[in-house]
Parts: sequence; structure tokens; C-alpha cells
Amino acid sequence: MSEGVKLAFAPFAAPARGVLIVFADDELRLGPVTRSILEPTDDLMIRAAGTERFTGKHGSSLDIVAPAGLKASRLIVIGTGKGADKPDLVKLGGIVMGKIPASATEGTVVLELGSGPLKPEQAADVAIGMRLRAYTFNRYKTRRKEGEDQVQSARLTLCVGHVPGARKAWADRDAVAAGVELARDLVNEPPNVLFPVEFARRANELKKVGVAVEVLDEKAMTKLGMNALLGVGKGSEQESRVAVMRWDGGKAGAAPVAFIGKGVCFDTGGISIKPAASMEDMKGDMAGAACVVGLMHALAARKAKLNAVGLIGLVENMPGGNAQRPGDIVTSMSGQTIEIINTDAEGRLVLADVLWYAKNRFKPKFMIDLATLTGAIVVALGNEHAGLFSNDDRLSERLHEAGEATGERVWRMPLTAAYDKLIDSKFADMKNTGGRQAGSITAAQFLQRFVDKTPWAHLDIAGTGMGSAPNEINKSWGSGWGVRLLDRLVADHYEK
Ligand code: BES
Ligand code: MN
Ligand code: ZN
Repeated sequence: MSEGVKLAFAPFAAPARGVLIVFADDELRLGPVTRSILEPTDDLMIRAAGTERFTGKHGSSLDIVAPAGLKASRLIVIGTGKGADKPDLVKLGGIVMGKIPASATEGTVVLELGSGPLKPEQAADVAIGMRLRAYTFNRYKTRRKEGEDQVQSARLTLCVGHVPGARKAWADRDAVAAGVELARDLVNEPPNVLFPVEFARRANELKKVGVAVEVLDEKAMTKLGMNALLGVGKGSEQESRVAVMRWDGGKAGAAPVAFIGKGVCFDTGGISIKPAASMEDMKGDMAGAACVVGLMHALAARKAKLNAVGLIGLVENMPGGNAQRPGDIVTSMSGQTIEIINTDAEGRLVLADVLWYAKNRFKPKFMIDLATLTGAIVVALGNEHAGLFSNDDRLSERLHEAGEATGERVWRMPLTAAYDKLIDSKFADMKNTGGRQAGSITAAQFLQRFVDKTPWAHLDIAGTGMGSAPNEINKSWGSGWGVRLLDRLVADHYEK
């Protein structure tokens, strides 16, 4: 929803108007092109840096209004720190966008560090950082507040050495950025608007980018025996859905990779109802499903060369008169029976059936599920890492690497037979909670009972998918976490 901010690439040139942004390292070193653009200012930058004590520290900036000698209305110099350290260019793009004053309508960024012009891929990295930082969700604001900080509409020109190269590199990033924005929008939407049927309709819109979409309604799910998922929706007036999205960009018939998302459109806790404080945040309990939709969009829009499926379980967890109770026993699609101990441990019930269905129907190379599954993972890892649980070391390693590369970081947690035992039930094959201890692990053990031997990873994104600490490239409550991570995983290892 940052439609007002437009990015375009152009050759290096001094702008005729608007904000001019350049970079300097911690020795106030400028690149050669930047030096020539600033030549007419007669060392203005150096003099202003002295007055303002600007030292080029990473992320700092020097803001000069009406710079003498330039046609630009404002010159902003952004510090990139030690010349030898390569700054993270996506983050740098976010920093750039954050420095552009809300009043600006036009801006020019000279994409050159002290070492010289950025390569096309690097320029595109800066661009995606700018784009993600510019995201705002204002759909439900009918008034603008005085002094609002974010640029709402501006034409921004990124100057590069090789324009066609930068545009080509940007095409893929553009697709990924659109996927992240879609995921953020879905997480930010209120729960009265984005209930399961509406969420499925939004997933269905991926048809526009070439994704095949099927939606299973309650009748179809009943026929399949998805009673664990359906049990969660029983207390709600809203019907449940499963959406199946397919992108076939690889060899015909080749096994797909599979992404599965928890889509609890609102989680009251059900009969085991949650306390009132911050319950509104539980509109974001579909962040896993949002990520899967955003990722499928990204893969299709950049025409990824692989087969991928995305499956999302969409329910609303409410305490209605027909709601399931603690003590109920449900038979999952797998045939395994589950004793409901706490109706607030609903995400694993939804995922149990969707994982089982995905595994049997698609025989995927791997399955990765994303779920805002437990408060305990937020206690353990805060907003910095998502919890990673997996039965496959290689997949874990790859996810870890992709996390370090994108900044969407994961931390592996254990799965063992001793933890698994904690969810054995007196009355059924298993129970849906394992008691106070190791809450995120017992939740993951539960999921593992529905994946058989399929290489699988579970990402508990309760701390990262929503309401996480704002950073250089995200100021939004719904973070879109996971889209860039999984896009990178796929690009690095699963595209031919
Ligand atoms: N959706 C919640 C987990 C959650 C908590 C997500 C905080 C985001 C922020 C999940 O359905 C839940 O309620 N989990 C319970 C499990 C417990 C009943 C075993 C929890 O974490 O308390
Ligand atoms: Mn819950
Ligand atoms: Zn939940």
C-alpha cells in the first residue's frame, strides 16, 4: 500500500529539483561520480560535516537545505560506516527511505559508495529496501494526522551505471516486494474484514499472476475427514476453508516443494478463552497463511523455475454455543485421535490436517509450515529469530543460511522422543497440549506426528510475523516475515 512512492532507475546525473541523496563512508569518502555531482558546491559537504559533527557513521546522516551550487532543494548525505565493511544494501535502502522527508515529492539517490557505483544486483537490493520501508497500511484511515512521518507519494530516481542491468535485477526483487506487501496487508487487515471465506477469496486472486487455486469448503473437508481443523471452526459463525495454491514453473510432474500456513483469522482461544488484554493482536494469527500467499505471489510473479504448492488452513476460533470443548476427542484426517485439553491450542489442530493432506496429495520434496503457534516461542526468542523445528538437518542448514542472508533469522530448537511423550493422552492417541514446560517444543512434536518421513520444517513465527520490533525495512505491524526467507531458500537450492 505504498502505491504513492514510485521508484525508477536512470543514469547518473545531477537532479534539476527535489532531494538529492548521496553516500559517504566514515572517512567522508565519496565515490567518483558523487564527487563530480557535488563539485559545484565547493566542499559544502565537508564544511557542513564539520559544523554538524557528521562523521559518516553507519546510518547517520547530514541534511543540508538549499545547497548552494546545486539545483536540488536539499542534499542528504548518508553515512555507510567503515569503507572496508560492505553495508547490508537492503537495510541501507531502508535507511535511505527513512531519511526522505515526508514533504518530499521528488528525490534522486546516487547509488555509489566510496568504492564506486553499485552493481545492478546491489542497486536492486537498495531498491527493495526502500520499497519495503515505504510500506504503510492506511486503508482504514480517513484523515491524515499533522506531521505524519512517512513519505506518502514521491517519485524517486535511483541513479546507476548500468540502467538495463539494474532494471533486470529489479524485476525479481519487485516480485518479492509485492509478495511481502501482500502478506503485510493480509496480517494488518481487521478480522471482521478478513474472515476465512474472504481470505480464501484473496488467495484466489493469485490466479491473476498464474497460480492455480482451489478452495476446499466445509463439505469437501468433511468428506476428506479433516475433523481436527473443522473442530476449531465449530464455535464460529464463519465457515472454514482450505486454499490450495499451485505454481508450476518447473518440470512437468516433478515433485513440488510445499508451504503450509496457519490461517486462524481470529483466535479468541475458544472455550479456553484468552484474557482481554491485547486480544486484538490475535487478528494476526493468520500470519503464516499470509506468508504462504505472499510467497506464492512472489514465486509466480518472478516466474520461479520450480513447482511449488501453498496450502493454508483458514478458520476462526470462537467460543460459540457449538464450540468444541476441553475433553472432546476428534479424529484427524490421518486417523489419529486427539484429545482437546485446551481449545486455545488450535493452530496445531488446523495444521495437523493440512500437513497430512499436503503430504499425501503432493508427495512434496519438503514441507515447511509457518505458524504463529505459541506464546512460548516469544518468551524464548523474542522478535529476533523464529523458532525452527525440523526432522531434516540439510533443510535446517539451508533455512539457517537463507535467514542470515535475508535478515529473517531462525534458531533451531530440539525435537526428541522424550518431548514427544509429553503429548501422549490417557484417552486418545495424543492430546493437544503438553503442559506448561517446553510449550513450543511440544507443539512442534504434535505437528511432527502428521508428517511421516517427509523432510519437514516448522517455523514458529509468533514473535516475528506480527507486532515485531520495527526495523530498517519494516515499520508495519504485519511484517510479512518469511516471504524473503523462503524465496531465498528456493532460489538458492531448488530452482533448476
Ligand atoms: N495464536 C496463539 C499463539 C500466539 C501467542 C501467537 C502470542 C502470537 C502471539 C496460539 O493459538 C495459542 O493460543 N497458543 C497457546 C498454546 C497453549 C494453550 C498450549 C499459548 O501459546 O499460550
Ligand atoms: Mn490459540
Ligand atoms: Zn492461535
